[in-house]
Amino acid sequence: MITRPGRFLVVEDNDTLRRGIARALADGFGAADEEAAGDTAVVRLRDGANAPYDVIVTDLRLPGAGGLEVLEAARARDERSAVILMTAYGTIESAVEAMRRGAFDFLQKPFDLEQLEVRVAKALDHVRLLREVTHLRAERVARYAPANIVGTSPALQNALGLVRKVASSRATALVTGETGTGKELVAGMIHGLSARADGPFIKVNCAALPETLLESELFGHERGAFTGADRIRIGRFEQAHGGTLFLDEVGDMAPSTQAKLLRVLQDREFTRLGGSRLLRVDVRIVAATNRDLEREMHAGRFREDLFYRLNVIRIAMPALRERQDDVEALAVHFAQHFAREMGRAERRLSPAAIARLRAHGWPGNVRELRNVIERALLLADGERIEASDVDVADAPAPEARDGESGSRGLSMREVERSLVLSALARAGFVQKDAAALLGVSRRKLNYMVQRMGITHPSWRRNRTPVG
Ligand SMILES: Nc1ncnc2c1ncn2[C@@H]1O[C@H](COP(=O)(O)OP(=O)(O)OP(=O)(O)O)[C@@H](O)[C@H]1O
Ligand SMILES: [Mg+2]
Repeated sequence: MITRPGRFLVVEDNDTLRRGIARALADGFGAADEEAAGDTAVVRLRDGANAPYDVIVTDLRLPGAGGLEVLEAARARDERSAVILMTAYGTIESAVEAMRRGAFDFLQKPFDLEQLEVRVAKALDHVRLLREVTHLRAERVARYAPANIVGTSPALQNALGLVRKVASSRATALVTGETGTGKELVAGMIHGLSARADGPFIKVNCAALPETLLESELFGHERGAFTGADRIRIGRFEQAHGGTLFLDEVGDMAPSTQAKLLRVLQDREFTRLGGSRLLRVDVRIVAATNRDLEREMHAGRFREDLFYRLNVIRIAMPALRERQDDVEALAVHFAQHFAREMGRAERRLSPAAIARLRAHGWPGNVRELRNVIERALLLADGERIEASDVDVADAPAPEARDGESGSRGLSMREVERSLVLSALARAGFVQKDAAALLGVSRRKLNYMVQRMGITHPSWRRNRTPVG
C-alpha cells in the first residue's frame, strides 16, 4: 500500500542521538526535521507556514524550554499530532505527567532505534486515522449543513422549522415524502443539529438487503452464528452508539425484521445474531420512507406497533411540484455546483429555460431537477443554459402520486438514454461529434447506441453506423 510519507520533528540536544533518530525516521517513514533546543522547537511548531507534524519525538530535558512545552506547542498547533517523549532514568513522574497532558507515548533512555521505530509506526497509524476521521466528519457536516438546503417556500421552511425544533431531543423521527424530496438530507440535518453531532451518523438501507442479511447488518452476529459467519460482526446499532441511526426505506422491511426492530426500540437492548449477551446502546433513530406507511399498515404489511414507535415526530417533505417557487433557486444552486465540479465558468439560465423548468411536474423531485441541470450544463455550449438544453417533457404536473407506485424516480437507464439521444440530436446524428459532446469514446457511444436500440436513417447504409 502506498501512503503519504509522514512529517517528523526530532528535538534532542545530543547531536549524535538526534541525527541517528532523524536518519532512522527518514529511512523508515519520511522526512524528519531536527531541533537541538526546546525554545527553537517551540518557535518552529508555532510557525503556521508549515504543515503540522505527524509525529514529534522530543527529549524531556532540553536547553531553552522543556519537553512539556514542546508537547504543549505541538498540541496547540494540531491536536492530532502525536508526541513521543524520551525520558532519562529517574524522570518517570514527568513522563506520567506528559501522558496526562496528551503525549502519545514515552520511551525510557537508553533505547534502541528499533524500539523507537515500533512506537513511531503506531503513532503514525493513529495520527492518520484521526486525520481521516476528522476529514470525513467535516465532509459530512458540510454535506448536511442547513446552508446547503435550498428553498424559501413555506412548505419547505415549515419542514425545516420542525427539524430545528426537534433536532436537540432524542425523540425518534420519521421522515416521509416522495423520492428525491430530500429525506436523507433532512435526516443528516437532524443529526448535525443535535447534541450528538460529534457522534456517528450511520445509515442502513433497509430495502437493499434480503431479510437475513439485514438482521446481521443491524444487530451484528457472533462467530459461527450461521454458515459463512467466520468472524464477529459489529452491527449498525452498535456502530451508531452515541450517535444517530438512519433507517432508510424503513417501509420495505420484512415482517420478521420489523418485529426485531420493535423490540430494540422498546427495550433499547438486543443481542447479536447467534449470541446471548444483551447489548445496550444509546442511539437516536431517524427513519425514512417514500411509502405511505398508514396504508401499508392498514394493508397488514407494516406492523402497527412499530409504526407508532417510529411516528413520534413526523416530518413530511413536500413534493417539488407543491413548491414551484423553489425550482428556480434550486436550478441556480445546482448550475453553480456542477459548473464548479466540472471546472467550468458558471452558466446562467435563460428566462425561457427557467419557464420550462417551472412548467415541469417533477415526479422525481429535487433529484430529477439535479440530474436535468447536470445534463443541461453538459450540453450547453453557449454562455447561457437555453430552453433547448433543458431536457424535460413539457407535460403538465401530474396529480399527486400515491407514494408507492411510480415514485421511484428516473432509472439510470432512462437518464442515460435521454442523454445519448439529446447529444445525438445536437450533433446532427454524427456519432463522432455526439461522443465528443458526451466526453466518451466513439466505441463506447456506438456500443450504447446499439444496446439502447437507437437507429437513425443516416446510419442505415452501413452495419456500423457512420460518424
Ligand atoms: N432543498 C434542497 N436543497 C438542495 N439540495 C437538495 C434539496 N433537497 C434535495 N436535495 C438534493 O437532492 C438529492 C436527493 O435528495 P435525498 O437523497 O435527500 O432524497 P430522498 O428523499 O432521500 O430520496 P429517495 O426517497 O429516493 O431516497 C440529493 O442530491 C440532495 O442533496
Ligand atoms: Mg433517500
